[in-house]
Amino acid sequence: MSDGLEDVVAARTVLSDVDGKAGRLVIRGWTLDQLAGRTRYEEVVRLLFDGFFENLPEDLTAALGRARVEVFNEVQAVDDGLLALGPVEAMRALTARLADGDDLATALRLIAAPAVFTPAIVRLQAGDAPVAPDPALGHAADILRMLHGKAPPAGHPEALDAYLVTVCDHGLNASTFAARVVASTRAGLTSAVLAGISALKGPLHGGAPGPVIEMLDAIGKPENARPWIEAALDRGERLMGFGHRVYRVRDPRADALKGAVRRLAEESGRLPGRLAFAEAVEAAALAILKEHRPNRPLDVNVEFFTALLLEALAFPPATFTGVFAMGRTAGWLAHAREQLAGGRLIRPQSEYVGPTPRIAA
Ligand code: COA
Repeated sequence: MSDGLEDVVAARTVLSDVDGKAGRLVIRGWTLDQLAGRTRYEEVVRLLFDGFFENLPEDLTAALGRARVEVFNEVQAVDDGLLALGPVEAMRALTARLADGDDLATALRLIAAPAVFTPAIVRLQAGDAPVAPDPALGHAADILRMLHGKAPPAGHPEALDAYLVTVCDHGLNASTFAARVVASTRAGLTSAVLAGISALKGPLHGGAPGPVIEMLDAIGKPENARPWIEAALDRGERLMGFGHRVYRVRDPRADALKGAVRRLAEESGRLPGRLAFAEAVEAAALAILKEHRPNRPLDVNVEFFTALLLEALAFPPATFTGVFAMGRTAGWLAHAREQLAGGRLIRPQSEYVGPTPRIAA
């Protein structure tokens, strides 16, 4: 038995390849460098969906805009109980109101769901009215507009596109595996996506970037980095934004996002200093992790620079996992359709190590 299924190949996929030794991510024949910062999210959704859905339009911008408008109706269902939840749990609850199905219309509503519900929920929680989608806008620009209630500054939609593209798919990570298991039962795409959201919210998976901001704020200045990190490791804590199951070198997504943060730095007063500080913390963490675990290569992962980029786009840290879901939903849906097209029911075996049955006297 392999602990955590580490060496188990559990699916064949044409969608993405994570090369942990080379530090390379390929998405349907394109390296991450060829996509991030060069394509819009809508184009990458089409790339992932190609061959898995019928009647796929050349450009998904308008269809995705209509889907955002459609799911916005669900925001009326928000009540006090739902607003008392965290933004990811509230977004998941609203997503659960969408009908199950296996077609493109269901899939586009599911991509629209975290993009529309997350801004609406955080606005309502802050006492502000939700902002309705504008179907004429690109997906990234409309997300920022729905969150902040005004047109985003120059460069921000492109930075969010770079993020959504960077996280759109990543092999058989925990949430994608969960989505494929549910899809294999033929429960429908909404059920598969709800499984994905549930797995994503854990701090070992998509829940890490919020705590990265807490760590940076607690460290405060570069000279505090070493004592703070050493104390955390001595308490047996893990450093959020470092380490990965597959990558034994630097996560290529970290540098794709660092590039996007740098491009934004030209337009933000706060960011240049913040970026330099984060780089100092990153360098200290890498050195200390090497000293503490000389036999286990631990490098920076996607979540460290996710935190910095989403902070620069003024997403509150409590929304970071919901923003991750905005990007990853496309991957979950393509994997669910791939599973339905060729896969059998996923039903592995377990090894019984409990007590032997009592023999009746
Ligand atoms: N900080 C400190 N130590 C870490 C660590 C981190 N971020 N990540 C792994 N380790 C240590 C573990 O404590 C373990 O040490 P041990 O053998 O002495 O117990 C060793 O490295 C191996 O860890 P393991 O849990 O087997 O690795 P994994 O493949 O299951 O873990 C992660 C992968 C991502 C869950 C893990 O690296 C982690 O928890 N990272 C922090 C959360 C995070 O950033 N998640 C986002 C991932 S994209």
